[in-house]
Amino acid sequence: MTIQIPTNNAMSTQPLHQSGGLPDPAELAQLASEFFATLPNGERHPNRAVPVPTAPATLQTRAPQHEFGQFTGLHPAPATVPTTPPTTPRAGLADNAPNAYAAALPLIDKVKQRSPAPANPFYFLGDVSGYPAGLSSADSVPTLQTFGTPTDHNLRGLLSAEEPALRSGGIPSGQSSSNLDQAGSFYFLDTGRFPGPHGSHAGALPNLASSARPPFDVNAIRRDFPILQERVNGKQLVWFDNAATTQKPQSVIDRVSYFYEHENSNIHRAAHELAARATDAYESARKKVTNFLGASSPDEIIFVRGTTEGINLVAKTWGAQHIGEGDEIIVSNLEHHANIVPWQQLAAHTGAKIRVIPVDDTGQVILSEYTKLLNSRTKIVSVTQVSNALGTVVPVKEIIDLAHRAGAKVLIDGAQSVSHMRVNVQALDADFFVFSGHKLFGPTGIGVVYGKRDLLEKMPPWQGGGNMIADVTFERTIYQPPPNKFEAGTGNIADAVGLGAAIDYIERIGIENIARYEHDLLAYATYGMQSIRGVRLIGTAKDKASVLSFVLNGYQTEEVGKALNEEGIAVRSGHHCAQPILRRFGLEATVRPSLAFYNTCEEVDRLVSVVARLAAARK
Ligand code: ALA
Repeated sequence: MTIQIPTNNAMSTQPLHQSGGLPDPAELAQLASEFFATLPNGERHPNRAVPVPTAPATLQTRAPQHEFGQFTGLHPAPATVPTTPPTTPRAGLADNAPNAYAAALPLIDKVKQRSPAPANPFYFLGDVSGYPAGLSSADSVPTLQTFGTPTDHNLRGLLSAEEPALRSGGIPSGQSSSNLDQAGSFYFLDTGRFPGPHGSHAGALPNLASSARPPFDVNAIRRDFPILQERVNGKQLVWFDNAATTQKPQSVIDRVSYFYEHENSNIHRAAHELAARATDAYESARKKVTNFLGASSPDEIIFVRGTTEGINLVAKTWGAQHIGEGDEIIVSNLEHHANIVPWQQLAAHTGAKIRVIPVDDTGQVILSEYTKLLNSRTKIVSVTQVSNALGTVVPVKEIIDLAHRAGAKVLIDGAQSVSHMRVNVQALDADFFVFSGHKLFGPTGIGVVYGKRDLLEKMPPWQGGGNMIADVTFERTIYQPPPNKFEAGTGNIADAVGLGAAIDYIERIGIENIARYEHDLLAYATYGMQSIRGVRLIGTAKDKASVLSFVLNGYQTEEVGKALNEEGIAVRSGHHCAQPILRRFGLEATVRPSLAFYNTCEEVDRLVSVVARLAAARK
């Protein structure tokens, strides 16, 4: 098989790869089919024949060739890409649908059939939810072969012949060369910087030799996300707007439904069965977040509406308490407006100053400039871990350590990071960490503030009302300890529970598996996009996650967004609520495809094909 890719500048094609390493699509389909018919012990599944998958009925599995850019992709066509929603109930997935998490899904049906939750009056005191706990990763993830994306090994092999071209093409001069030849320093390969759960640095990430790579089956994962079957403008949806919000797996949708069907009640205050179930489900979600972030206690986890509300909470409580006239607040040039405006409001109120860490031409913060900003007046450093506009992975561990040496506290905006990499707030030594559930495959309207317990205990509440008090008279109020002190009124109970289900889902796949897959996909997409003449990638830092911002010569960004939408491809175009960083690059807007682990190389091919067509039309 000869795979054609565009050369760097002219979009003509040349053979890059001979068939040696990659099976052809039919062979791959047969292998996949046989695989899914085989049980882990090697026996044949009793109910499953071994059909040879035929080409998907409606989805074009290769990017359409067009007159100019014949970008046909680097990867073999996947064995099957689902084009219609499964017609059988999900509990029937075992019959004909390879599904990475099929093992978990029948439980949902079992839940629906199961007898009512236990009538134990102390139900809420225990750790037993009325809903089944997530399966352990050991139970739930069948061993699946990887297909649908080139492995890192394949990708390196494919691109090695082209490295000189890759280095010279698309990346502005003076900036780093391709990420692909520097993978040793990627964020997810750096075990020291991104430790595993519970703060274990060394060996927290598995050996990344290709042969040892855990399996990852993107086509199976896609079946867990019903919306990915949606058609837009007659085409199968390509969801490349993951930095704005992520799609939800069936298990999250089912979990929220289950809450309203079986558990719905207010929490804490009512002494009846459903209140107990709701309380238990809510507090169980808090424990899941605790473990997910590597926090030391659920008391350090406050539920809020999202990242924006979380930063506002910290600015209006800890900030108002500790920041006064002449004090300094450091943010970076990369920040989302949500990590600028609350601090500006505080500064305007108190007379404090905002200082900004500059970024280099790749979009990475300049640590040497950061160190110059730190001084005894610095009270807090508030930075994003991953830029929503550029995808830059910021070295937050170094930023935190330097801030602490200067006596400052640090807030990390994890809105764009938690879905892409392992976070451990204790290993990072973050004072505050905030994120949104909807960017982690959970519901909208729920988010988290992590705060070190000793800080939370000394902070004043920011809203007053029910739920957060221990005792009220007309003369005074005694508050609950954290986290309740910061959760006045009735919270978003159902969606907190849904967030817990999203975390279960992520943990079943393994965030390290996700990070590796996305790295390959981003490298693939970067290569494809930078091959199109007229495309300027915005944000070319060595460490990047998910985001591929670009502008196209001769086009307004909204024109590109519209053209992509006509092909069923959803991207965000505009300023991404991060105007300062776009202006750093002389821009008011970019087109921003942003990837998640359910995206495929084939979808990238569709994106590249449309952009190449546009580029060719206005040379
Ligand atoms: N913060 C979200 C984005 O980057 C809305 O698109």
